[in-house]
Amino acid sequence: MVMVAPSILSADLGRLAEEIASIDRGGADMVHIDVMDGRFVPNLTFGAPVVRKVRGATSLPFDCHLMVADPAILVPAFADAGADYVTVHAELPGAGACLDLIRESGMKRGVSINPPTRLSAALPFFDDIDILLVMSVNPGYAGQGFMPEVLPKVTEARHIRGERGLGFIISVDGGIGPGTVGQAAAAGADMVVAGSAVFGKGDVAAAIRAIKEAAAGAE
Ligand code: DX5
Ligand code: ZN
Repeated sequence: MVMVAPSILSADLGRLAEEIASIDRGGADMVHIDVMDGRFVPNLTFGAPVVRKVRGATSLPFDCHLMVADPAILVPAFADAGADYVTVHAELPGAGACLDLIRESGMKRGVSINPPTRLSAALPFFDDIDILLVMSVNPGYAGQGFMPEVLPKVTEARHIRGERGLGFIISVDGGIGPGTVGQAAAAGADMVVAGSAVFGKGDVAAAIRAIKEAAAGAE
């Protein structure tokens, strides 16, 4: 069964704690928190103080996706705020050192690759990570179109993971909904991130169920 991590980027941010509680009741597996700094991506979202405020709304793991130019300076604050997973981008020169810092701070580690980035940029980290986050949109905004051309990276990562006996989660992020999740599941995704397909539709539980059912039909 493919896991679903709703992205709170598309939630009603004025009612964020309630929105998180509703995805918990609705069958979400993790809470995906898109952290943007206006530098690595041309958009600005939220940081550790927001994570801290909503930590009490759920016991689901917080999967924090740092789309920031200097993630290392933020890691201690995310640990302190109650983040479970912190993912940094392989495109950054300091990604390896940052992964060490995340582990030392007691959190699980993820590495992400943008659509133009080859899987080889993430390969040096495969032995160390808990999540590989394959972007299926260029990061920065919710509601963009799914890019199926990234899926061969998912299949290849799954193959290498099996060969090496590793256990990291392969997650696909961007443009996921009932109409696209099947392709990600068939390619080998264990988890998908979905923002606009979960929030703003009225019934988040039905939205999560629809994604899971569509994924199950394709696996
Ligand atoms: C993109 C973010 C994604 C995005 C998902 O920069 O990393 O998590 O918000 O939103 P949808 O599902 O609407 O593409
Ligand atoms: Zn994300």
